[in-house]
Order: sequence, then structure tokens, then C-alpha cells
Amino acid sequence: MNETTPSSYILGHSASEIRRLVLQAEILKPITARLLREAGIAPGMRVLDVGCGAGDVAMLACEMVGPGGSVVGIDRSVDAIAVAQQRARAAGYSQAVFQAEAIEDFVDETGFDLVIGRYVLVHQTDVVAFVRRAAELVHPGGVVAFHEVSHRHPFASSPVVPLWERVGDWLFTLFRAVAPHHDAADKLFGIYTEAGLPPPSLFSETPVAGGPDAPHHAWIAETIRSLLPKLVQMGLTTEAIAGVDTLEARLREATVAAQSQIIAHAQVCAWARRAG
Ligand SMILES: C[S@@+](CC[C@H](N)C(=O)[O-])C[C@H]1O[C@@H](n2cnc3c(N)ncnc32)[C@H](O)[C@@H]1O
Repeated sequence: MNETTPSSYILGHSASEIRRLVLQAEILKPITARLLREAGIAPGMRVLDVGCGAGDVAMLACEMVGPGGSVVGIDRSVDAIAVAQQRARAAGYSQAVFQAEAIEDFVDETGFDLVIGRYVLVHQTDVVAFVRRAAELVHPGGVVAFHEVSHRHPFASSPVVPLWERVGDWLFTLFRAVAPHHDAADKLFGIYTEAGLPPPSLFSETPVAGGPDAPHHAWIAETIRSLLPKLVQMGLTTEAIAGVDTLEARLREATVAAQSQIIAHAQVCAWARRAG
């Protein structure tokens, strides 16, 4: 991992982790798009994506602000920024620029119309300071939006797919143990107000899928791959039991055989407008 500052980001930035972020992004895209729409994103706006990772939220914002708008993506990982830059260029988003910078060190003189962060608060040691810094980067009247994952409820399935639920329990236990703010999604209201923002608007959506074509099997299998060393270290599984190279296929087979609906973590989104 090549980073500008020490990271509390437990998933790293390997090639398989970048693949995982891209798979995840396809599932999360409609939810983040709803957040951006409700937050009032519009053509021509200037948007900041904090903790942009492989650049998916920044590229979504580019679609929504159009060619007359602009998007800055920042991430403290140099590796992630290189991937985001390359993907945005390949997709033709010339209005996007990316910078390897932690939010704590990022300087901007102009002010943004909207700052968005997805799956970033959970990794912060001081989540209120992070949101306060995000709020300083929007101009008065600008919007601060966050999309976070809740680890409040374990994975579910109906009819039950034991493998899906077991894998979900590993993730649930690991995140609750190691993510400094694993419960940020469930505390967004308080975090916003403590950071000096008005009470946020909130909504929640939960990814649910069935059938062989659902990308959820690959998403969760790649998540387990990225986290395997930590899962083994914590004694939650072994390499042999996890079987990451066959996990996606086994999840898919079990889901299809049971004709099940599989249910992942709830997503919680919040946005508020900085006082004018
Ligand atoms: C789970 S990834 C999410 C990436 C992206 N937002 C997405 O949803 O696909 C979290 C990212 O936040 C970055 N990050 C964490 N803390 C940060 C900070 N204080 N400033 C900038 N980037 C940060 C990490 O390096 C990592 O790439």
C-alpha cells in the first residue's frame, strides 16, 4: 500500500480490493444517486468526493453535474487516486480531477456546492472532526452528504442460506471490532449536529437480491478476500473454511438452490445544508 499518511483503512488498496470497490459501486450506485438527487445536485455544480477510492462516486457526480460542472476526488491513498484518475479518464469524464490528499490536509480556496463521502466515516478515528472539516469545504448554503454502511443488523436470507449468513456474521464481527466508528451509519444525526451542521435529512435502503446473476455473491466474496488475513487473525475463520477462490460460486449455488432472497447491510444516507 502506498499512502500519503498512515491509514486506518483496513481493506487496503490491492488489485482485488479495487475490483471489490467497483463491484460494490454497481450495487450502491442507485442509493448514492438518490442521496445526490435529494441533496440537490444539479448541472454546473462544483462537487468534492472525500475518500473517493477508485472514483465511483466522483464519476457518478460527473454524470449528474454534466460537462459544465466539476468534481474533485481526494483520497489519502496514492494507489487509489491513480486508479480513480485512470478510470475517469477512460470513461471520458474530463471535468474530474483527483488529488492524493487526506481531508485533514486538503486546502481549497473556492468552496464547493456539495461535499459527498461514501463508506469513509466508519474508518475515521474522529468522525465529528471529519464531518466538520467536510462542512468547512462547502460554501455557506452548500450541502454535506454522507452514505454509510450500517453494521447494526446481520445479513439475512429467506429461505435461509447458511453460508450467506455465516459470511455476513464474519464481516459483522470484524467491523464491530476494528472499524473505529463501525456504528457511524446509525449515529449520523448526532454526528451532523455535533459537527455544527443543521439536523440532516436521512433515509435508508437495503441491498436485496436473488438468482444467479446477482452481483452480490462476487461483492461479498471479494470483501472476504480483502479481509481474509484479519478474519483469520481474529479466529473468525481459516483460509480453508473461507475458501475465497470458490466462495463466490458457492454463495451463488446455495442461493439459487434455495431460491432465496439474500439481504446485505442496510445503507444509511444523510445530507444537510450548511447555514448561509
Ligand atoms: C471504503 S473506501 C470507499 C471508497 C469510495 N468512497 C467508494 O465508495 O467506493 C474508503 C476510502 O476512504 C479513504 N480515506 C479514509 N480516510 C480518509 C481521509 N481522512 N482523507 C482522505 N481519504 C480517506 C481510504 O483511503 C479509502 O480509499
